Amino acid sequence: MCGIVGYIGFRRAAPVVVNGLKKLEYRGYDSFGIAVNNPKMQVFKKEGRISKNEKAASRLPGHIAIGHTRWATHGIPNDINAHPHQDCTKKIAVVHNGIIENYAELKRQLIGRGHTFISETDTEVIAHLIEEAYKGDLQAAVYQAIQYLQGSYALLVTVEGEDKIVAARDSSPLVLGVGDGEFFAASDVTPLLEFTERVIYLEDGDLATLTPEKSEIFHNGVPVERSIELIDWSIENVKKGGFEHYMLKEIYEQPQVFYNTMMGITPDQIPPELKQSDEVTVVACGSSYHTGLIFKYLLESICRIPVRAELGSEFKYFTPPIKGLVMVITQSGETADTLAALKKAKAYNCPTLAITNVLGSTVTRMADHTLFMRAGPEISVAATKSFIAQLAVLMQIANLLHDGDLTGVLTHANSVIEEALLTDTKKAVEICSPAEHIFYVGRGLFYPIALEGALKMKEISYIHAEGYAAGELKHGPFALLSPQTPVVALCSPGNTYPVMVSNIKEMKARGAPIIAIGVNGDLELSEIVDVFIPIPESHELVQVLATSVVLQMLAYHTAVALNRDIDKPRNLAKSVTVE
Ligand code: F6R
Repeated sequence: MCGIVGYIGFRRAAPVVVNGLKKLEYRGYDSFGIAVNNPKMQVFKKEGRISKNEKAASRLPGHIAIGHTRWATHGIPNDINAHPHQDCTKKIAVVHNGIIENYAELKRQLIGRGHTFISETDTEVIAHLIEEAYKGDLQAAVYQAIQYLQGSYALLVTVEGEDKIVAARDSSPLVLGVGDGEFFAASDVTPLLEFTERVIYLEDGDLATLTPEKSEIFHNGVPVERSIELIDWSIENVKKGGFEHYMLKEIYEQPQVFYNTMMGITPDQIPPELKQSDEVTVVACGSSYHTGLIFKYLLESICRIPVRAELGSEFKYFTPPIKGLVMVITQSGETADTLAALKKAKAYNCPTLAITNVLGSTVTRMADHTLFMRAGPEISVAATKSFIAQLAVLMQIANLLHDGDLTGVLTHANSVIEEALLTDTKKAVEICSPAEHIFYVGRGLFYPIALEGALKMKEISYIHAEGYAAGELKHGPFALLSPQTPVVALCSPGNTYPVMVSNIKEMKARGAPIIAIGVNGDLELSEIVDVFIPIPESHELVQVLATSVVLQMLAYHTAVALNRDIDKPRNLAKSVTVE
């Protein structure tokens, strides 16, 4: 949550930082700000989206700047609580991603020593601590100040009178971009793609001092060398490419993403501990948790290995007895709850496997093994192609553990996903967009897909949607069914088909409009429902993929009809880096 960017070099720093922040807006977008050290410190910060004030912010002259785009934790979104934060002298500026857990105590002590606070944020204590420690050497002062901090931080700091940026991280992501005569720092690589492919991922406990000529990195005060790595994402990946929204672009990338990801997972990458496990625990949050539930069905039904699927936010505090491999699924590789669960699993001495989309992300440095999704950067807050890429990894794992029986099915799935992209959701959108509540129901593999469909609908259209195992509706939610409560029923052929059809009839009898997704040519189903959305008949796993794509499009077009902010839904951030 929150994105930070820093630049030092020969370019005008403000436009570089402001443009970089726009690429990080998916991490939070309730306010933004920059500080330019020129040689006087100038700060510009405002509530609201960057686009409203980017011209004014970009105008600041100078070659050293740090900036921040915020997802509020401490203090409401307003101009004052926006970063950068400053000390009493106004010579120091700090941007921060993370949470300082002991800020209240530090603030009390600092006020006692005569400091005046302006904002309600936890971050402001850092500026005042640096002020107290500053004796003309910013690096030394930041090092001293961070000794007092408990919690998580990725920090960029600059001070009037010194031509440098000091960066530090602990439990929040921070990456340096290496140019020729310039350096960048950012929460992730997306702001850097335009300028360099050379990056250095900082480790927890690292502090770096950047000047235009060099970076010096210290770990717990001792100089260290960190290797320069090459990013394989390109600037094209972070452009809209003619689509109206990133979400739509990312939905359309899915056939290729599925294929590339699936083909990228080879038998030699499957950790031996997974092959040998009598039980596997999967931990994840949000959409990634839904793919974890699908993995449970897959591994249990295909490979007969028991799988426990847990929410990251619960696992840390209510850890069940675990044995065998613990697998975490996280697109960003930075979700705080998932990382906390991983730490816990390591404390139990369990072997660990991470599935992620982001090279160099924190999870890759914590887990024993990593399998990568090849989704490329996902900019829209709502997960789409990363969801499909996770399924590609998980389906391929199940396939490889089962001697490659499903290889033929999986290598042709992309063409079915492509066909699903042609689906017309217009009539379903007409039913969904005026609704206040929508149910999504499915059984077996389609139950987690119902959960995911409902999540997608609520996060971008703001319509209340609930995913249910179809059989559960009768145990309470039936009371809510009415002509104003549409039900999206996922009804593919298979052993649950007859019972799904009778569930649909029961819901219909209570007056609920039914939108059913089933296979082409299913006359029985199409005759009893209000809107029938056909997908190509194919293997059950491929139908899971095609159905997911249709539900993404239903949510997307409903949100468009309601004129919602598709790529940046209210109150959300893509990387949830606080618990
Ligand atoms: C929903 C969505 C979120 C994420 C969740 C976990 O569209 O994107 O529910 O799936 O925040 O994020 P990662 O996978 O980065 O750990």
